[in-house]
Amino acid sequence: MNIPAIPPEKLPALLAAMPKAELHMHVEGSLEPEMIFALAARNGVALPYPDVEALRRAYAFTDLQSFLDIYYAGASVLLKEQDFYDMAQAYLARAAADNVVRAEIFFDPQTHTARGVPTATVIRGLARACADAQARHGISAALILCFLRHLSEQEAFEALEDALPLREHFIGVGLDSSEVGHPPEKFARVFARCRELGFHIVAHAGEEGPPAYIWQALDVLKAERIDHGVQAVHDAALMRRLAAERVPLTVCPLSNQKLCVFPDLAQHNLKALLDAGLCATVNSDDPAYFGGYVNENFRAVFAATGMTAAHAWQLAANGFEASFADAGARRAWRERLDEVFERAADSQAK
Ligand code: HPA
Ligand code: ZN
Repeated sequence: MNIPAIPPEKLPALLAAMPKAELHMHVEGSLEPEMIFALAARNGVALPYPDVEALRRAYAFTDLQSFLDIYYAGASVLLKEQDFYDMAQAYLARAAADNVVRAEIFFDPQTHTARGVPTATVIRGLARACADAQARHGISAALILCFLRHLSEQEAFEALEDALPLREHFIGVGLDSSEVGHPPEKFARVFARCRELGFHIVAHAGEEGPPAYIWQALDVLKAERIDHGVQAVHDAALMRRLAAERVPLTVCPLSNQKLCVFPDLAQHNLKALLDAGLCATVNSDDPAYFGGYVNENFRAVFAATGMTAAHAWQLAANGFEASFADAGARRAWRERLDEVFERAADSQAK
């Protein structure tokens, strides 16, 4: 569509109001410090921090691993089905308030089975929250099971086996945790099995790792989307392929800032990815840890990089293009997006 010029001071309201898909959010990364302490008390779990403020002060990350160490410690309070329900329910209410109409939510079953929590407990709690959110907020939500790449392929196969009795509750599989030293090809066979089973395939690649990991995610795992992918800019042939095939990148600006992937948000390459014709999207990754949900990611990256209303429309449209929802739903969300921009244009003309 023809995107109207919107004065910069009116852009934040438009960014907030536009309907959007969130395709890269780890539900364990939506655990706010207050909920960590509430669940710790409810479940009798001891935390190595005296209070919420002390925990928040520990959120000073220098790279991905420094974050993951605290993220896995935070998840240690999750024991019961109701805990997983409450966590996902809180995220989905926040997402709906940000005008997210579709959420594809990552979860890490191995983080929980390692503590003796059955996979079925995890999935039942999350799936019930997704179903209730559709009824309560009109938000469409689906789950994607992620394998932890710092563990072995054999352990990933075991996680898959554990989850298969509940396979109707998740639509795809992904790959997360410590990237460097754990290339996608390490998981070639388990992803081949997941493809045979009919799951959608995504993978984190090119967050801190090299462009070679993005090639492997595409060619070995057959990933349909790349999570992060921002290191692609260092490989011109890869950029051409991603643009030509419209492979979505689920970019997470505040995450990249907090984990020092870019020295400063002003240096973020989201605008360059869009201007090169890639299907980039904006997402919150681990919003409780990185300082904001999806609308705050949009607000901050636009303020830092000077993107325009045309970029905003493109990012939201890319989210619907990249979603695994059915074509009818994606078309309806795109129409709602266009209406929001048409209304903004009309009020500009007055
Ligand atoms: N990268 C890798 N693993 C993760 C992330 C991330 O950004 N968030 C939660 N697990
Ligand atoms: Zn992530």
